[in-house]
Amino acid sequence: MPCKLVVLVSGNGSNLQAIIDQIDAGQLDARIVGVISDKPDAYGIERADRHEIPTTILVANNDESRESYDMRLQTAIDSYQPDWIIMAGFMRILSDALVEQYLGRLINIHPSLLPKFKGLNTHQRALQAGEAQHGASVHFVTPKLDDGPVIMQGRIAVHPHESADELKQRVHRIEHQIYPNVVQLLCHQRVSYHDGQVLFDDKLAGQPLTPTVQVAEN
Ligand code: GRF
Repeated sequence: MPCKLVVLVSGNGSNLQAIIDQIDAGQLDARIVGVISDKPDAYGIERADRHEIPTTILVANNDESRESYDMRLQTAIDSYQPDWIIMAGFMRILSDALVEQYLGRLINIHPSLLPKFKGLNTHQRALQAGEAQHGASVHFVTPKLDDGPVIMQGRIAVHPHESADELKQRVHRIEHQIYPNVVQLLCHQRVSYHDGQVLFDDKLAGQPLTPTVQVAEN
């Protein structure tokens, strides 16, 4: 049985597409049972529709509290009975209660080499800081933002004089390779969460995994 994924998106959904493509190519033993968006016009929803993946659009009501929204989100997630909940550009901060509910089954991708550059505008900030390397991190989600244990990182060298936009595009291409890579490891139960740490093949990983697939920069 392929493992069941719910993917949370707010926008373009190119990471969602990368996961869909790897499943279609027979490289990823998973099935996306639902895509949930907080934005009705998220292009990720169109991508899901095109692949006949069930979708739920959950727009926050005016003045709705985070807790109230997250209760509705939990109901939507649970209706799909997923094994893993995959955040792929979902732009809402989750309440602690929701994170605790799915602790160890909730994954996010962040466009920096965590713990560097938590939060927004990571590419611009990496350039401004003069970083020689930049990249993306896939991590378990814990209540503190962008702070959960990192499962895998993909790194690239920062090119001299490149713009934040160019760097962002290059990091995106890395994301599209490492996210399906991590999902495959999760589905094969090679990676798990234990007490705030990452286990890889039942041993403490200690540091972020490097991709187990060949990662091409372009
Ligand atoms: C990615 O850069 C991801 O790291 C961040 O949000 C962006 C989503 O991009 N969390 P997309 O919607 O998958 O194209």
